[in-house]
Amino acid sequence: MLRSLTAGESHGKGLVAILEGMPSGITVNPAAINQELKRRQSGFGRGARMKIECDKAEILCGLKGGKTIGSPIALLIKNKDASIEKLHKVLCPRPGHADLAGLLKYGFSDCRDVLERASARSTAATVGIGAICKILLKEFSINITSRVLSIGGEYAKAGMLSKIKEAVNNKDTVGGMLEVKAKGVPIGLGSYVQADRRLDSRIAANLMGIPGIKAIEIGLGLGYAVSFGSEVHDAIFMKSGKIIRRTNNAGGIEGGISNGEDLIIRACMKPISTLMNPLPSINLSSKRSAKAQVERSDTCVVEAAGVVAESTLAFVLADCLLEKFGSDSLSDIKGSFRAYLKRIS
Ligand SMILES: Cc1cc2nc3c(=O)[nH]c(=O)nc-3n(C[C@H](O)[C@H](O)[C@H](O)COP(=O)(O)O)c2cc1C
Repeated sequence: MLRSLTAGESHGKGLVAILEGMPSGITVNPAAINQELKRRQSGFGRGARMKIECDKAEILCGLKGGKTIGSPIALLIKNKDASIEKLHKVLCPRPGHADLAGLLKYGFSDCRDVLERASARSTAATVGIGAICKILLKEFSINITSRVLSIGGEYAKAGMLSKIKEAVNNKDTVGGMLEVKAKGVPIGLGSYVQADRRLDSRIAANLMGIPGIKAIEIGLGLGYAVSFGSEVHDAIFMKSGKIIRRTNNAGGIEGGISNGEDLIIRACMKPISTLMNPLPSINLSSKRSAKAQVERSDTCVVEAAGVVAESTLAFVLADCLLEKFGSDSLSDIKGSFRAYLKRIS
């Protein structure tokens, strides 16, 4: 139902995002998009680039009178630093980044040609798209939030902050775990009928597409592996004529379908690959050992990755919602949504 594409290099003129499949009749306030872009740029542990960029999205098309008209929506987020043609070559690939594999794959002699697109700068476009999807979801009282669960194995706030400080002082980087939650998701998004229609497979595939995300857990996740079924499956009860659950180990998804409980997803973000105290690498020109390239970079982006994960989840849920309730006009979709809720109540 929904399709999106992004384009743009880290130090090119800007990022472009196209979102196709949004129904007509949704009021899109550009301030809501810019607010999300600002959230992506914040968080403890961010580098100098975030002080240079103050992302603002320009809506190029797809709206009339501030409302969607069913046509594709295009966003432009200009880069303040657009020095791509003047930037130095990158000859010593950074372990953990796409530099080496990308250079060999595409036949380049300069890792710059890889990293300009492989950089997570593109996630600004992801967040622009997600912000519009969140506006649609709000019309159906679906709200998505995220939080940082741990940094470098520390779970308390003070411990997390000191891990980031330690990484900065040691010219190192640090990763962590984040949680994304969606409240108000109706029963019935996704399906068990094919693997690629499952809500869990769609969420996992899209979240794994965020640079640096290395593992996804839904609900109890890995905890299922060490439990008896009687301990972890969410028993079903009736209370005052309503079906209820007292636990949510399933994280809101059973059989690839949303079950009406909160969606709870955790993701692991690896430490940033650009180290100020670089790891051993090679110089691709001299073919000798060398230290990896040092680039302007963040130290820890788990909080920002949470914002990107919210946007990604918003895209998946918006897609599933339109698939279930129709996709042309907001008022038709609301009508079908209300009729469905009445039927299952
Ligand atoms: C919001 C965000 C910001 C990031 N900022 C940086 C950065 O400043 N420097 C860097 O080397 N990697 C950064 N990364 C991570 C890299 O993009 C990631 O480590 C790289 O793509 C390789 O990871 P992969 O193997 O999962 O693709 C960032 C990731 C996200 C989600």
